[in-house]
Amino acid sequence: MINKINTLQEYHEAYQECIDNPEHFWHQLARKFIWRRPWHTVLEWDFIKPEIKWFDGGGLNITENCLDRHLETQPNKTAIIWESNDPNEASVTYTYKQLHAKVCELANVLKNLGVQKGDRVCIYMPMIPELSMALLACARIGAVHSVVFAGFSSRSLSDRINDADAKVVLTTDGSYRGAKAIDLKGIVDEALLDCPNVQSVLVYQRTNTPVSMQGGRDLWWHDEIAKVDTHCEPVIIGSEDPLFILYTSGSTGRPKGIMHTAGGYMVYTAYTFKNVFQQQEDDIYWCTADIGWVTGHSYIVYGPLLNGATVLMFEGIPTWPDNGRFWDVIDKHQVTIFYTAPTAIRSLMAGDHSPKSTHSLNSLRILGTVGEPINVEAWEWYHEHVGRGNCPIVDTWWQTETGGMMISPLAGITPTKPGFATLPLPGVQPALLDENGKEIEGNGVEGKLCIKFPWPGMARTIWGDHNRFRETYFSAFPGYYFTGDGCRRDADGYYRITGRVDDIIIVSGHNLGTAEIENAIDEHELVNETAVVGYPHPVKGFAVYAYVVLFAEAAGKDHDALRKEINESISAIIGPIGKADKIQFVTGLPKTRSGKIMRRILRKIAEGETDNLGDTSTLLDPGVVEEIMRGKV
Ligand code: PRX
Repeated sequence: MINKINTLQEYHEAYQECIDNPEHFWHQLARKFIWRRPWHTVLEWDFIKPEIKWFDGGGLNITENCLDRHLETQPNKTAIIWESNDPNEASVTYTYKQLHAKVCELANVLKNLGVQKGDRVCIYMPMIPELSMALLACARIGAVHSVVFAGFSSRSLSDRINDADAKVVLTTDGSYRGAKAIDLKGIVDEALLDCPNVQSVLVYQRTNTPVSMQGGRDLWWHDEIAKVDTHCEPVIIGSEDPLFILYTSGSTGRPKGIMHTAGGYMVYTAYTFKNVFQQQEDDIYWCTADIGWVTGHSYIVYGPLLNGATVLMFEGIPTWPDNGRFWDVIDKHQVTIFYTAPTAIRSLMAGDHSPKSTHSLNSLRILGTVGEPINVEAWEWYHEHVGRGNCPIVDTWWQTETGGMMISPLAGITPTKPGFATLPLPGVQPALLDENGKEIEGNGVEGKLCIKFPWPGMARTIWGDHNRFRETYFSAFPGYYFTGDGCRRDADGYYRITGRVDDIIIVSGHNLGTAEIENAIDEHELVNETAVVGYPHPVKGFAVYAYVVLFAEAAGKDHDALRKEINESISAIIGPIGKADKIQFVTGLPKTRSGKIMRRILRKIAEGETDNLGDTSTLLDPGVVEEIMRGKV
């Protein structure tokens, strides 16, 4: 259905065509989908305002394209295979027909709860098929989903619920993660103490653990499903109407509610999924991400289902009940395409958790990676031990904001190089900019990665804060979308992402804003001031290093106990993913005369640098640097 590029020459032709006549290129592709109303304009854009519209005037429902259309051609094909956290619990499968029925039922329940087109629904659930159904049920009735990763704390959850002004929350009684059981409903209850506008909470029974149900607000999923049927007409929304909001960390202050619209996102995720993975009819595709992140949205839910693919969903973690779990699951379900994160690869590699001779892995055809730069050693280990030397690796660079993959090989077509995301996909026009905002031409160069032309999957705004959208992405280099990443283009024109150039740290593939962690640490009553930086970590990619200035009242307090309390504070405010690996207590932070913290110096010290700290002459008190270096943890 969706155009597939089959050779390197075809890739180059498609790329060129998309530069010469982007509107024609995307128009041809978009026509392959079910639209209920044709668009009048393929593309309108302005990167200064910024305003981006794709297929404007068009009307559609993405679930008709994910589900209904396959009912004619392949109703009994498996859409979802679910593998439990517990290897002894039976797997569950849903055909396209069954998934369609389940989504329609849930959509009817949402309607009964008063959810209407444009309303926001917050989803806080573990990796069970009902989570995919929840996203699709919202989309079915034109509601806007806002999925919050179920590892976030109650505070993070309430902030996100309030920012999006969600009126309904979907959750479960509890969740499993390896040997741990987590009281999700308890976290929701705590969050909702601060969310006066939430009217209903729908609770799916996953763990059958006792939970409190608040009368008039909390409802059991199964009770409500029993009241509805499996017919639900899709609500037609505009191409540029919101499909979802997904929060991502910002380099300053609160997380940003990245907003994606329906039409362009649909076309882009479908096209990139098909081509990057070179997906075929009989593939069993497994992406290990959580649906709480954009990778799950685009490449567990929408991209694969739009292509009628079979998707494996996994509830557990790679290291439980033992370190061979990924390999067991691949063999059990005969996975052909496997998409994971460098941090997972490095953690398995570090403990020598290579697949054993008892693992066949013969079904694998293609491997993928996403979320952070992959070091050459991890790439080679992945290639050799998991791919057995004969599976192409697609290192896919993209972001929550880009909606879909941007720079990536096409599996088996684009020649790869370890550590390189290789070449831009059709429609993606990267530019490397220097400090003065000048585009650096030619090859063998390095700069800040920007994109100079719109693509259909790009975010349209930050929910409720268009100004911040402009400030964050379109003001550093006027006329360009700025990614926040540094990047090298080698002699062959291949792209290698070198990492963030702003105050975001990617820890185990999760984006964390340093300001967000600092705010959480500052909430500890004995903390006066904090500066957080990232430092390289062999498994996590980067880890959090916090320099903390205590109040005088803290004198005599046990430092290890304080470190523990500080990390508990981070856990409560952000979630365990934000915890600091290293906390150093200092008497002062290196500041300029104007009071700005010189993070550059702190970053270098955290990295173990003792010389070459750069110019410290503008510091108010250069002596503080000496002290910090002496006390490094
Ligand atoms: O720094 C880049 C890194 O992850 C950032 C985007 O994070 P997020 O919005 O959470 O989306 C992650 C999943 C798409 C990017 O700005 N990143 C992502 N993929 C890669 C990468 N860095 C290097 N190589 C990649 N393949």
